[in-house]
Amino acid sequence: MNIFGETVKLRAMGPDDAESLWRWNHDPEVMRWMDDGYAQPLERVRTWLTERPRNGYGDVLFGIETLAEQRLIGLVRLRDAEPETGCAELDIYVGEKDCWGKGFGTDAVRTVCRYGFDKMRLHKVSLTVVAGNVGGLRAYTKAGFVEEGRLRSVFRRDGGWHDKIAMGLLEGELRQRGKLVR
Ligand SMILES: CC(C)(COP(=O)(O)OP(=O)(O)OC[C@H]1O[C@@H](n2cnc3c(N)ncnc32)[C@H](O)[C@@H]1OP(=O)(O)O)[C@@H](O)C(=O)NCCC(=O)NCCS
Repeated sequence: MNIFGETVKLRAMGPDDAESLWRWNHDPEVMRWMDDGYAQPLERVRTWLTERPRNGYGDVLFGIETLAEQRLIGLVRLRDAEPETGCAELDIYVGEKDCWGKGFGTDAVRTVCRYGFDKMRLHKVSLTVVAGNVGGLRAYTKAGFVEEGRLRSVFRRDGGWHDKIAMGLLEGELRQRGKLVR
């Protein structure tokens, strides 16, 4: 099932998306503020996409496609959801850099959170973002996330240590153009 935002469509990912995912994961600009782990060859990325368990409550992964061009530009994931707590963690990145700053990231965040609240009956979506990631902070804040705390000096990049900001969004707090969605 596809999920539609204003400018993006969220859809399931499969082995055919491996090349894009591999390319994004090897782009230092895209990965600047994200945990980059250990480099993996394209074949391993393809295997991961082929063999990962199907989307389910505890881990739901979507490719982000532009509605206008139907072009895959990134991914968004709700993970570690638990029915007992109603909480999940959000990860997102837009890997196609020419698509940054055009509103796609914010729309994807809103769309997946709406899905989490409406379909998965979540109570809260949480995330952490490196304090220097201005675009990420701005996109999350526009969607309604609020800062809940600061993890000091937990992310190492470019020879220095950076803080991470913990952010959260409760059901009923989702925002569209500055207004609560409902
Ligand atoms: C962070 C990210 C998801 C934001 O998506 P996006 O599509 O670029 O963001 P949007 O276009 O929706 O922009 C949201 C706001 O942030 C601003 N913004 C985006 N990138 C910015 C940057 N690098 N510096 C300053 N502002 C920025 C936009 O101008 C917009 O603000 P406005 O509406 O007031 O003009 C995307 O840039 C990305 O994936 N970056 C690399 C990976 C990453 O950092 N992921 C998040 C890890 S927590």
